[in-house]
Amino acid sequence: MTIDYAEKIPNNVNLSGDRTLQRALEHWQPHFLEWWQGMGPTDFQNSDVYLRTAVSVDAEGWAQYGAVKMPDYRWGIFLADAVPDRRIGFGDSMGQPVWQQIPGEYRSTLRRLIVTQGDTEPASVEQQRLLGHTCPSLYDLRNLFQVNVEEGRHLWAMVYLLHAYFGRDGREEAEELLARHSGDADKPRILTTFNEPVSDWLSFYCFTYFTDRDGKYQLKSLAESSFDPLSRTCRFMLTEEAHHMFVGETGIGRVVKRTLEVMKELGSDDPAALRRAGVVDLPLLQKYLNFWCSSSLDLFGSEISSNAAASFANGLKGRPDEERYEDHVLREAKFRIESPDGKGGLNTEEIPMLNALNEVMRESYLKDCEIGLKRWNRQIERAGYDLRLSLPSPHFRRSIGAWVGQPVTPEGKIIPQQEYARRVSDWLPTEADRAYVQSLMQKVAQPGKMAAWVAAPDRGINNLPVEYEYVHLS
Ligand SMILES: [Fe+2]
Ligand SMILES: [Fe+2]
Repeated sequence: MTIDYAEKIPNNVNLSGDRTLQRALEHWQPHFLEWWQGMGPTDFQNSDVYLRTAVSVDAEGWAQYGAVKMPDYRWGIFLADAVPDRRIGFGDSMGQPVWQQIPGEYRSTLRRLIVTQGDTEPASVEQQRLLGHTCPSLYDLRNLFQVNVEEGRHLWAMVYLLHAYFGRDGREEAEELLARHSGDADKPRILTTFNEPVSDWLSFYCFTYFTDRDGKYQLKSLAESSFDPLSRTCRFMLTEEAHHMFVGETGIGRVVKRTLEVMKELGSDDPAALRRAGVVDLPLLQKYLNFWCSSSLDLFGSEISSNAAASFANGLKGRPDEERYEDHVLREAKFRIESPDGKGGLNTEEIPMLNALNEVMRESYLKDCEIGLKRWNRQIERAGYDLRLSLPSPHFRRSIGAWVGQPVTPEGKIIPQQEYARRVSDWLPTEADRAYVQSLMQKVAQPGKMAAWVAAPDRGINNLPVEYEYVHLS
């Protein structure tokens, strides 16, 4: 299905065929643009940015690249093509036709799922709004803005569903999505990770690596939904999402590369010497990985969840890549789960698999997170150093579920509370660490030049050289 760019709101959902819906969304559009101007990237709104814009929803050749001023980006509504005769792929109604309208009994649950997903999209734009001022290169600046405009589009994706399928409630929720703000004391974003400041580029790379990857897993599970418009929306969002995680993985890889170069020059891996030389020592990077990984793990929710069970059984939210599994109903399956016994040991419990689906998802997410770690560790190994970066245990620094407040090391060992308090500064960024990282953040804006703490990327965007002027600052 082609995208109609002649419309005020580009779309491939035949929006002009539904005047009421079109009017409602055209009424929301200026509110979105006001939000973008007020809460989106500060300055740079008049700069020409080399952005990709969706021109079709085919996996191949879906995007067109060109210089765009961000406020002129064509945010719109793009659904992946319908799968003919698609059937429900999991849960108690498996095999029945998917829904084009929402069954009344699932309305409020689906609304909550869509609003929670929708809330994360503008939240991340707000979190990243100041980063442009300290960009390590024009290449990075462009990637930041690409991510930002696409998160804005993901908001559109969810707002379309709210307007099209949830009537007045949906319209109110769409307004609320612009009224909550990341970190706001009175009206914060729904999920904690999306209220954390992202005020330096090391955090940005970690955020796009860990938190955008959470987004990938949430979208994959919603792409399985029996509510077909939600499934189609999420399938296309995943196409855009891949680049966000690429920014994170290559960003951290470039930090590692640069640090290894300086370690070689200095003939030392002494963190103090490396900080004097102006790069991110690897133990410091490890602390940032611990912080953002543990925060993102909370986004999967409690280990034991009757909501997750109901959403699966009712066909609202599946497991990421449902087709990988053999059992799609899970009425018989069990799952062994560990929780702290409060005396420094573990309880092992067997629970219905349906109630453990948050944990199932968290485990597959962690496996996906390992891919980058392997790559970065190979870089370190090739450079001849023994240190290895690692993911923290899913029991470390949890704010949700059975492990809340438990004194657990990043290796997953339960230790006395006092020891935890003494050692936590070895595991998480301290004020001094953050201040040091902040001190590295100096804007570099000559084409092809990089900040001293990060290596150049291997290649540019869309086959252009790294030296290309990806953002023309006005
Ligand atoms: Fe997104
Ligand atoms: Fe994203």
